[in-house]
Amino acid sequence: MKCRVCSAPIEAFMSFGKMPIANGFLTPEQFENEYFFELAPAFCSSCCTLQLTKQPDPEKMFHDHYAFFSRTSKHMVKHFQNYAHWVMDNYLDHNPFVIELGSNDGILLENFSKHGISHMGVEPSANVANIAQQHGVNSIVAFFSPELAKQILQQQGKADAIMAANVMCHIPDLNAIAEGVDILLKEQGVLIFEDPYLGDMVRRVSYDQLYDEHVYIFSAISVNNIFGRHGFELIDLLPQKTHGGSMRYVLARKGKRPISARVHDILQTEVELGLDKSGTFLKFKAQCESSKKELLETLRSLKTEGKRVVGYAATSKSTTVLNYCQITPDLIEFIADTTPEKQGKYSPGMHIPIKPYGSFCDAYPDYAVLFAWNHKDEIFAKEQTFSESGGQWITFVQEVFETVE
Ligand code: TMP
Ligand code: ZN
Repeated sequence: MKCRVCSAPIEAFMSFGKMPIANGFLTPEQFENEYFFELAPAFCSSCCTLQLTKQPDPEKMFHDHYAFFSRTSKHMVKHFQNYAHWVMDNYLDHNPFVIELGSNDGILLENFSKHGISHMGVEPSANVANIAQQHGVNSIVAFFSPELAKQILQQQGKADAIMAANVMCHIPDLNAIAEGVDILLKEQGVLIFEDPYLGDMVRRVSYDQLYDEHVYIFSAISVNNIFGRHGFELIDLLPQKTHGGSMRYVLARKGKRPISARVHDILQTEVELGLDKSGTFLKFKAQCESSKKELLETLRSLKTEGKRVVGYAATSKSTTVLNYCQITPDLIEFIADTTPEKQGKYSPGMHIPIKPYGSFCDAYPDYAVLFAWNHKDEIFAKEQTFSESGGQWITFVQEVFETVE
């Protein structure tokens, strides 16, 4: 196939096998018609972009009963508050207009709304956009495109900042996004987005960052190449702890704003890590295979010992782990999750029951698989009683403590 960004020929370096929709929690009546696709990542040696070779139709993932609500985590609410204030302090002057692509339930934009800042969210899932509305956030229910950019331009003029968080990596046609941004952004305007970071995925072997919605996992090298094709350049980079290691990318039109020294430093670190070389991903493949073997061995031996094992948090990422490792309900009794929309349903593909959080704390298991490993600090603090009563955590990603908030 061809690279989604630069059209160079590319090939998958590995396959995670048959995958369902990561957020496709379902009822037993839906088991028979469950949708699967092959999860297979490829690395483009020309533009250095890591991407999925196949992806379900966006309508299968982002619809009016989309189960992902950003507000579920208090930590994320705080994170987005900081993100918003950082944008206001660094990039906005008087009477600004800001846009967010994939504004979800308004978790970022509400901070601008509260300050009376003119804003517009673009969000394809109607149910989450309705929640944003309840929090005073203006949203358009649509996918962003050059046509939509022209429409917003006519109605509201050019933007000072176009932002996104955990959205850009979902969008297959980034060239169309860059065109839309070019239409809508002021001459001195900035494009700021953050997404799970390839450097962290490689270092942690956190292959669960790969699932249907994440068609790309970016590095700074790839982002510079992708948007460089459309006249933009990286002017700053800020590593983030969120989602198990993310990067905030700040881009401006070439030559319009000074470039921070961090850009040079991080690009250099990426070359040292091999994020510009296909060989790096062959090593990553071998590490994924070892990780799978180790997790399965752990779960099988605990089963033999008669231990009770449950999953903690039915994250999107857990769908990749469960299906790649073929973890069946005999190995994990249920997954406890705080999101009401998921409770009473079954996990995509492996059909492990999803139970309310109370099922975990009312009768602690011997072991809990930490699927929300990216919220580890928050969860460990909350679940001290579980650990104190002898409960143990099972994790499957490498520890790395290098990113800063
Ligand atoms: P995500 O990783 O795909 O964002 O999913 C987060 C899921 O984890 C969401 O369904 C809520 C759940 N969750 C818990 O059940 N308990 C927790 O303490 C945290 C942080 C998340
Ligand atoms: Zn490419």
